[in-house]
Amino acid sequence: MKTIGIIGAGAMGFAEARVIVAAGYKVILSGSRAPEFLKEKVAMLGANASADTPEGTATKSDILLIALPYEYFDTMPLAKMQGKIAILVSNHIYDGSLPEVENKSVSFATVIAKKYPGIRWVRALNNLNSGVFTSLPRKKGDPERSAVPVASDDEKALAEVSDLIQNMGFDTVELNTLKDSLQFEPMTPAFGLPYLRYPEKLQEWLAGLNGRREVPPFDPGRTVTIKELKELLSQWNK
Ligand SMILES: NC(=O)c1ccc[n+]([C@@H]2O[C@H](COP(=O)([O-])OP(=O)(O)OC[C@H]3O[C@@H](n4cnc5c(N)ncnc54)[C@H](OP(=O)(O)O)[C@@H]3O)[C@@H](O)[C@H]2O)c1
Repeated sequence: MKTIGIIGAGAMGFAEARVIVAAGYKVILSGSRAPEFLKEKVAMLGANASADTPEGTATKSDILLIALPYEYFDTMPLAKMQGKIAILVSNHIYDGSLPEVENKSVSFATVIAKKYPGIRWVRALNNLNSGVFTSLPRKKGDPERSAVPVASDDEKALAEVSDLIQNMGFDTVELNTLKDSLQFEPMTPAFGLPYLRYPEKLQEWLAGLNGRREVPPFDPGRTVTIKELKELLSQWNK
């Protein structure tokens, strides 16, 4: 049984942990605080889950999932991550700190891979929100199964992560470079909204938010097939 280590077990990391455990994998959760702070989440996940420090998580896991805010990336246990596959789930907040990402001349994943070398980066699971993420998984062959994009420069890592995501209950559309992940970054056609049944409710909520941090309105999710996803990805930069 493979172990998936989650660095940043917040809204998105924990949603992914739920789906990964349900798919039959072991999960290790870590956050910025001591592992004891994650005991309630571990209890909710059951016997195949545990908590550790980020260092312990990176050491003991086969695949890492990085879901912490970008401003904390320098604190990642980089030495323990060398040679490991790491799924980049985090998105950059458009705050002016990475202009080349914000004007979409380079993908966030390309910047991360250059800044943190020696890690087998795969870009995936960043283009749908934590709420719909737990309601969309379906078995292979189910007509309501959704597809998500996966991108990497590392062919074997791409195949391994694609396999994991398929076991989690999603079809995958594979893109062969980290550069290609530009096609599913924030504010592209394949990002977020297509997976919502009521996208207008989210847009209304966002318009009224005024900088406050609040949980978005519940959405049961909407199926995005492989065909639709390919079409959405191809719309980027048209
Ligand atoms: N939420 C979504 O729907 C969603 C969807 C797609 C992508 N994302 C991306 O995922 C990332 C996380 O978003 P989120 O909504 O899950 O945020 P969040 O709920 O605030 O969770 C952030 C997590 O990161 C942990 N963390 C902070 N500093 C850390 C450090 N130095 N080492 C290890 N863990 C650390 C926090 O742990 P403590 O609680 O212990 O501080 C917390 O568990 C963001 O980049 C976001 O763009 C989010």
